[in-house]
Amino acid sequence: MSNFSFNFEPKKVKKINSKYRNINTLIPAPGTKEVFDRLERVESRSMHGQLPIIWNKASDFSVFDMADNRWIDFTSTIFVANVGHSNQKVIESIKKTCDEPLLSCYAYCNTIRADYLEKLVSFAGENFEKAFLLSAGTEATEAALKLMRMNGQRIGKRRLGIICLENNWHGRTFGAQMMSGNISQKKWMGFHDQDIHHIPFPYPWEVSNERAKEFLNESLENLIKQGLDLKKDVCGFMLETFQGWGAIFYPKNFVKEIENICKKYNIILTFDEMQSGFARTGKNFGYEHYGVKPDLICTGKGMGGGVPVSGLIGKSEIMDLPETGNMSSTHSANPLVCSAGIAVLDEIQKLNLNQEAISKGKILFEGLEHLKEIFRENITYICGKGLIAAIMFRSTKKNISDSIFTSMIVEKCYQKGLLVVHTGRESIKIGPPLTISSEALIEGIEVLKESIEDILNE
Ligand SMILES: Cc1ncc(COP(=O)(O)O)c(C=O)c1O
Repeated sequence: MSNFSFNFEPKKVKKINSKYRNINTLIPAPGTKEVFDRLERVESRSMHGQLPIIWNKASDFSVFDMADNRWIDFTSTIFVANVGHSNQKVIESIKKTCDEPLLSCYAYCNTIRADYLEKLVSFAGENFEKAFLLSAGTEATEAALKLMRMNGQRIGKRRLGIICLENNWHGRTFGAQMMSGNISQKKWMGFHDQDIHHIPFPYPWEVSNERAKEFLNESLENLIKQGLDLKKDVCGFMLETFQGWGAIFYPKNFVKEIENICKKYNIILTFDEMQSGFARTGKNFGYEHYGVKPDLICTGKGMGGGVPVSGLIGKSEIMDLPETGNMSSTHSANPLVCSAGIAVLDEIQKLNLNQEAISKGKILFEGLEHLKEIFRENITYICGKGLIAAIMFRSTKKNISDSIFTSMIVEKCYQKGLLVVHTGRESIKIGPPLTISSEALIEGIEVLKESIEDILNE
């Protein structure tokens, strides 16, 4: 992670009044720092580090601060607002449930929950039969860990092995963090579960599709040499659909071979679809790009259109492993989030958001490839699919690291009315609401170009 911090002191920047952007005050807008200071006093610092903007309202692909400055949003918060910020159908659906009134009913049944789960399971694909709802993504990956292991116990595996990928990421709770590949974030746990294994990620600049199968088998051979028996000791394979920080997809043959191995040795194949679900990549779920059929998928983020809902979707024989009452949570399937979830699925279908992600994705990637040609020295890779992309940067500025250089570009974009995802690394991620207009998308790419130029010229 870079130790770059954004400037919180209001600074004079060029005024901008385009069709989709308005910057008319000092930036950050006067009053911003005061709110951040209040939060600094009462909120743990782990929540901080984002751009200095107070979100006052967000609608479709625009974000407004308290001074009515307006940004084009290339973040969807963090790939949540797939159906557009404050989507009217989502709001209406929640309001209807509030008006019943019904805010909560724990695990007591209600019709909205039945309506939502039927829709969700059918949306997930023919391989799936049941779902279980939670609130945060990390709870979903945690529940997947439990089910993979319970299934291993059911079929008499000797050990509870789970194979994960180096540098992938699955959340911040104990099991999720154990499965994640980020070593520095795991120190607090104090031990490593010897049955959670990590194998190297096949970065496309290192491993071609032709070599992917061999690459995987070499990694598995290493585990086997250390005493692991795939048949007896491995219950699950946990894959992030693409590696998050860089929107890096695996070579298709790599995932296909994982599926073969899972079938051969009776191993559960799970995809963490947190960022890649709900039409983000031009498919309902990202696993579809690989031509495989996972046993479980973990979902969240865009699922609720802005309200906290996550889930685990799978086959009945796996989903029904925990006893009655042994896998539920106080807020699981809350009627408000189910109402929102129904509206999200309806909107994806009605607005044809898979097709939108494909056609707008084409504009986005053409634009980004063009930037790569212009800034040959500074842009090393463009990754992603549909409306999720990452640009990898290399600094050519003296004494400025790649990650700081990248953060400087993020801040410059912000000063010019464009929000992009700050990863703290040498990548900028881009994931606008799937409802963004082509015109706004092109305007945003132009702002990115100007921002890189400005940073290089400063
Ligand atoms: C791939 C992936 N898995 C899991 C999570 C955890 O989700 P949450 O933050 O909702 O707990 C995230 C969140 O960024 C994610 O990107």
